Amino acid sequence: MPTLEVLFLLVVVFFSISLVWTTLRVGISPMPSSAKAYQTMLMLTENTGQGAIYDLGSGWGTLALRAAARFPDRKVVGYELSLLPYLVSIFLKQVYGANNLTLYRRDFMASDLSEASVLLCYLYPGGMSKVSALISSAQIKGSKLSSFHNEANQLNTTTRDALPLFVISNNFSLPDHQPEQEIRLNDFYHSPIYRYRLD
Ligand SMILES: C[S@@+](CC[C@H](N)C(=O)[O-])C[C@H]1O[C@@H](n2cnc3c(N)ncnc32)[C@H](O)[C@@H]1O
Repeated sequence: MPTLEVLFLLVVVFFSISLVWTTLRVGISPMPSSAKAYQTMLMLTENTGQGAIYDLGSGWGTLALRAAARFPDRKVVGYELSLLPYLVSIFLKQVYGANNLTLYRRDFMASDLSEASVLLCYLYPGGMSKVSALISSAQIKGSKLSSFHNEANQLNTTTRDALPLFVISNNFSLPDHQPEQEIRLNDFYHSPIYRYRLD
């Protein structure tokens, strides 16, 4: 077999193994949110102030890119562990010139979310338990959330330092929290989209 073809085959095998390996490791594949789901998630992101939007597990970058385009004045951050989706998302970010989007190949559990105003999630039940634990640890570290809310409910993230304000989740609920909004999509499963306000 010619060398180029062998090389191509090796690259395909490497990325396929890496995709399967990371899916098994993190507990979910990089399947993107459906069109109805991301439209609803972005609609629920309206009226959440001007603070940073974080996509926890940004996959191929499709949701994060749309968030960056919809909210050009807000910082958008994506964390993704899976190599191939991450590389594709970096490529798409360059293609679309999304200057307000920053993508990291990193475990969001080991990342600093203190700047986040909105956490976007499309994970799985165990992943949402991790997000819940992350929020609790942010609360334990101490936040200025109450002073933030006392400031006339102005959604200005400069007045707080340790806690995300909103969690918007596709399909999976956030344990130990009550959603302020739950929208059922007009799809086969009537999939829920939840919005939690953390105060
Ligand atoms: C179902 S996809 C969602 C992609 C995108 N957020 C969307 O809604 O279109 C979930 C992604 O989360 C990633 N993921 C899961 N746990 C993670 C973690 N702890 N840190 C970073 N990425 C993670 C997975 O690799 C996967 O690509």
